[in-house]
Amino acid sequence: MSPSIGDMEPAEAESAYFNEYPPPKALPKHEALARAFVERHVEANRRVVLVTSGGTTVPLEAQTVRFIDNFSAGTRGATSAEYFLEQGYAVIFLHRQYSLLPYSRHYSHSTNCFLDFMDEAAPTSDSENPDHGRIVVRSEYQDQMRDVLRKYRYAKQNNLLLLLPFTTVSEYMFELRSLAKLMRPLGSNALFYLAAAVSDFFIPRSRMAEHKIQSSEIPANFSDDEAVGSNDIYTGENAPEPPKAGKKLVINLDPVPKFLHRLVDGWAPEGSMVVSFKLETDPSLLVYKAKTALQRYSHHLVIGNLLSTRKWEVVFITPDPPHERWIRVPKARRSKSISGVEDQVGLAEIKKGRDGSGPESE
Ligand code: PMT
Repeated sequence: MSPSIGDMEPAEAESAYFNEYPPPKALPKHEALARAFVERHVEANRRVVLVTSGGTTVPLEAQTVRFIDNFSAGTRGATSAEYFLEQGYAVIFLHRQYSLLPYSRHYSHSTNCFLDFMDEAAPTSDSENPDHGRIVVRSEYQDQMRDVLRKYRYAKQNNLLLLLPFTTVSEYMFELRSLAKLMRPLGSNALFYLAAAVSDFFIPRSRMAEHKIQSSEIPANFSDDEAVGSNDIYTGENAPEPPKAGKKLVINLDPVPKFLHRLVDGWAPEGSMVVSFKLETDPSLLVYKAKTALQRYSHHLVIGNLLSTRKWEVVFITPDPPHERWIRVPKARRSKSISGVEDQVGLAEIKKGRDGSGPESE
């Protein structure tokens, strides 16, 4: 029996994993965009950060109807990208399709619908007047929206933000590998900020059903003419037996190799900085798991967070003293912030985390 990917050495696991899947269709286009983006910013001697954001899916079928998802709205990634831009970085934003994006995130939450920020201007007496019935931003939001709009325009007009979407975990891995290699000319001007929620398990393509997995038996004498969908209504004497109780679905998943190893040791440019995140739900495990990740992958910083408190507190785990530092948003300031800890501490803290000096903990 051939060894499972989880038992292989990192380099061997890499080729086994990437041989399972064809590269995503969009990869050549994304690579061309990223190459041009990197060249432009190498020329300008500007720092470039690859921010990953949102959750990856694990399809259960090749023609996918069902999939397993990883939790993430993309708030952390989208918010952090804005702070990186403010600090003078150019940002490659590798994100789950339709998750939150830098700047537009302020107005696209279901609780922050952009329509609630708009109004119809007071009607003029002249219906021919172009201002008659004009749509405007409500006066109380003018300052905030102008500020966001200006920053968004600045990033766009100066080619500082490259948006690249992914959906599945294999797409994410292909994109991450290519982008890291394309960023090599940046050397120590490259930073990796891995906030995406990446699946730990997957179904190898070789074991994946091609078509939608059926929940009831298909009769052996089934033919196209008699085909009935599960929602069809059966009537008359010759009606087929209606399906009995649904079949159980047992899913057998393999571990996705931890590609942080390959990123740090192979793909990323020499001298670049790698920041990873660690998400847990059990508070007693968070620091232990984050410290273990830092030791195992020998990168620069692990930012640990708990699902329930991720907006208000994170822990920085660094190789140098103080090794563990908590950053907490004071209770009184929590409700004012859409995205929590990023809005309170900003990105200068990432740099400080690398240097061993750090943000104030509460
Ligand atoms: O988007 P929000 O709603 O704001 O939520 C933000 C967040 C909670 C998703 C984010 O802050 C966060 O913690 N992201 C990392 C989630 C995650 O994948 O954690 P993990 O413990 O499964 O993985 C740890 C690290 O290993 C990650 O940096 C990941 O890039 C890496 N990894 C994971 C799986 C895998 N197969 N290979 C990897 O290299």
